[in-house]
Amino acid sequence: MITTVTVCLLLSLSASSYAGKAETEQMVKTVCAPCHGVDGFSLVLAYPNLAGQQKKYMIEQLKAFRSGARQSPKLMNPVAEKLSDAEIKDLAKYFSKLSPCKDACAATANTTTKN
Ligand code: HEC
Repeated sequence: MITTVTVCLLLSLSASSYAGKAETEQMVKTVCAPCHGVDGFSLVLAYPNLAGQQKKYMIEQLKAFRSGARQSPKLMNPVAEKLSDAEIKDLAKYFSKLSPCKDACAATANTTTKN
């Protein structure tokens, strides 16, 4: 009985393919951070900040990039094409939970007023 329950638990965990926090952070660091920053503040002024953005909005945008309904052929389309639904959810959750106003607020304000 205990074994059956354990097997069911393991199966349902892998079936939902929840990537897990560590895996999500790893993906952010290696895939998203070069453009959007690990703290959700983009390194290029022309790229959008994601820190504190609405989770639901980001899920919709990532799915739109994945399907091609939203076009960003050189940047976001090739990234989103590789994401599963579960990864999209986890990544949107990660960025939505970041503070939209850390030290970076001051830095962003300074850079934008300079331009
Ligand atoms: C090569 C640079 C690059 C990489 C890598 C990248 N992005 Fe983007 N991302 C962009 C750019 C540029 C835009 C704006 C696209 C546009 O509309 O033209 C964008 C837009 C977005 C948006 C929509 C933001 C909005 O305000 O509408 C989300 C959400 C997003 N990216 C999430 C991610 C996630 C999650 C990853 C990692 C899996 C990632 N991006 C990787 C450059 C990048």
